Amino acid sequence: MILVTGGAGFIGGNFILDWLAQSNEPVINLDKLTYAGNLDTLKSLKDDARHVFVRGDIGDRELLAKLLAEHKPRAVINFAAESHVDRSIHGPGEFIQTNVGGTFNLLEAVRGYWNALPPDRNTAFRFLHVSTDEVYGSLGPDDHPFTEENNFEPNSPYSASKAASDHLVRAWHHTYGLPVLTTNCSNNYGPYHFPEKLIPLVILNALNGKPLPIYGDGMQIRDWLYVKDHCSAIRRVLEAGKPGETYNVGGWNEKPNIDVVKTICSILDELKPRADGKPYVEQITYVTDRPGHDRRYAIDASKLERELGWKPAETFETGIRKTVEWYLANQDWVQNVTSGAYREWVSKQYGSRE
Ligand code: NAD
Ligand code: DAU
Repeated sequence: MILVTGGAGFIGGNFILDWLAQSNEPVINLDKLTYAGNLDTLKSLKDDARHVFVRGDIGDRELLAKLLAEHKPRAVINFAAESHVDRSIHGPGEFIQTNVGGTFNLLEAVRGYWNALPPDRNTAFRFLHVSTDEVYGSLGPDDHPFTEENNFEPNSPYSASKAASDHLVRAWHHTYGLPVLTTNCSNNYGPYHFPEKLIPLVILNALNGKPLPIYGDGMQIRDWLYVKDHCSAIRRVLEAGKPGETYNVGGWNEKPNIDVVKTICSILDELKPRADGKPYVEQITYVTDRPGHDRRYAIDASKLERELGWKPAETFETGIRKTVEWYLANQDWVQNVTSGAYREWVSKQYGSRE
């Protein structure tokens, strides 16, 4: 079996659903259930013995040691993190605690477990750390997309905490020989995405007749990857990646934010026209920029394609349509996550923006 951390979040949840749709290998899912963790995402696994959910913190070394000894996983995949840049600007403390301190404690618990494994299981064991392209900083308009050789130049408290965690993972391989793999992925989108991030926020605000907030001039570029393609990349790296290596994951889909928002508007115009017949783009509102806003991210994923034969299945056009359709068809999931705590966040983040 495998141990997944952060499996009640957006990418971890999609990963577990896809994993169990394709294999019978059980999953232990350790998640703290912060505001971003949502067991509704895993509702279809409620009576499935292959999924064992444990509520807990990756910083709790005692709990980790107990889980590892009891379930004896062949691999640990670390998704658990604080993941939202805007929240890291309002309050960086949790990001340091979970992304840096939590990863350290997880690595130490895993090292103790891995050291005690019999030789064949010790050799086959893998620790896969899920990270982000944001560790590389921001690109100029003509720069080549990030390769695995780029220097780390993180700019936000979030990306700095992820960069720190990547360094810890690297050091645990270099010093202790722990068989680690790291993936650095671009922006994900798709089902079960918490509506604090751009794409689900815009879909929900559009449907609720609210402003669609564009930070600054809206010309910041992100490189979008459908979440299920990220999950297939992680499965491939787990299966065939070389311990100690890092792999960039991306879909060659660079888009300025304003184009992403306009694309969502036009799909909604077609699938769910406004009652007054006007286009959704009329709800677009330019607001104060994010402090320190990175201008451009883009991933060169050719190492992963060349060495492990991975390619994304979706283009941005197919993936974004599927995503909008999913949100239209899953309003109950949306209702459950847009609780009081969500409304408090929206008012804190957007209330005082022009
Ligand atoms: P998310 O915020 O949706 O989910 C994070 C999950 O981790 C939640 O279920 C939360 O409850 C859990 N968690 C938080 N702190 C924890 C702790 N201390 N112990 C145990 N569980 C804890 O995040 P996501 O978007 O699914 O991202 C998952 C991982 O992928 C993160 O490491 C993130 O940095 C990375 N990543 C995300 C993207 C993206 O576009 N979303 C892109 C590249 C990499
Ligand atoms: O690049 C990978 C990263 O992508 C992940 O590591 C992070 O966990 C994930 O949150 C994401 O970070 P971003 O900051 O790029 O994602 P977000 O959806 O918050 O914002 C996308 C872009 O849209 C960014 O340029 C900021 C802008 N934006 C965002 C929001 C929420 C707006 O213009 N308006 C908004 O209301």
